[in-house]
Amino acid sequence: MAKQMKAAVYDEFGGADKIKIRTVDVPEVKEGEVLVRIKAAGVNPVDAAVREGYLKDYLPYEFPIIPGWDMAGIVEDRGFSARRFEVGDEVYAYARRAVVQHGTFAEYTVIPESFLARKPQNMSFEEAAGIPLVGLTAYQSMFDAGNLQENQTVLILGGSGGVGSLGIQLAKARGATVIGVASEKNHAFMKELGADFTIDYKDQDVGAAAKEVAPDGVDLIFDCASGDTLQQSLAALKPKGKLVSILHHGEGLDPAIDFQYVFVEPNASQLDKLREYAESGKLKVHVSQTYTLADTVEALNQIQTQHTRGKIVLVP
Ligand SMILES: NC(=O)c1ccc[n+]([C@@H]2O[C@H](COP(=O)([O-])OP(=O)(O)OC[C@H]3O[C@@H](n4cnc5c(N)ncnc54)[C@H](OP(=O)(O)O)[C@@H]3O)[C@@H](O)[C@H]2O)c1
Repeated sequence: MAKQMKAAVYDEFGGADKIKIRTVDVPEVKEGEVLVRIKAAGVNPVDAAVREGYLKDYLPYEFPIIPGWDMAGIVEDRGFSARRFEVGDEVYAYARRAVVQHGTFAEYTVIPESFLARKPQNMSFEEAAGIPLVGLTAYQSMFDAGNLQENQTVLILGGSGGVGSLGIQLAKARGATVIGVASEKNHAFMKELGADFTIDYKDQDVGAAAKEVAPDGVDLIFDCASGDTLQQSLAALKPKGKLVSILHHGEGLDPAIDFQYVFVEPNASQLDKLREYAESGKLKVHVSQTYTLADTVEALNQIQTQHTRGKIVLVP
């Protein structure tokens, strides 16, 4: 078994220049953990935010840090009691640990067995690696926090990005009417994903535009964009509607609004549900670009634009 591996690594918080590609030790598999050979790692805005130190007061960390919280790969080794998967099984996971240290922009990672689920069989490793973080975020935001029901209407702010592109499909799979908000160039893409209506946030008031297509208002606003787009959209929320945000923490909002902030948690049984959606053709991942480990800086720069279509993925 390999003792060393290539990984993207940083030794202090900061900009893109802090990332180095180094040969490091393969992390030791402890009791209850599984060693996974990473075939693909999804890239998320949070990977750049963590590198810049924005979450250092909330999440414990230990340098050197290997970035990356998403992965699809193959089980290589198992701790003593970790027997749910066989060596050689194809798995995927949202691999955020309690301490930020061993990420997925590497050839191997160790994670608790309880985080792992079987990878969707009908997907490539690249596609599967684009699901866990954003799929769980959309699931926990719209279904757990938002309690979205069949025949309700959801307004998704940022509908063409990682979270929104899976969010549109999950909301449609639940039987909701979906209004997707993104720039004009992404409207055809959101329609392909199943959005019933699309709104451009750039040259109109989003709330007024949403009320044109849903005169009674929307049951749920799923906010993946915030800023002016969120403020405008509030005019379209039904009096008993819910606002769920993955960015806004609620400061300054009208206290009458039924509001919840969500920070995504690892959840293997929800990954099983996402796999079922994928295998029944209800959930697809649009991988707009694939990067190598050597291109980690470019991948993180792209995800920081806030204008990625679908997902970008790193192949170590
Ligand atoms: N709390 C959590 O657990 C959690 C989990 C996942 C993500 N997040 C955060 O949620 C945000 C979205 O994540 P993501 O992975 O989906 O990002 P992403 O892939 O970069 O997607 C960004 C999306 O926002 C749209 N957008 C950009 N500016 C906008 C604006 N002013 N109004 C409306 N839409 C706008 C983009 O569309 P155009 O390109 O057409 O502009 C695109 O659809 C990020 O800030 C991320 O850090 C939080």
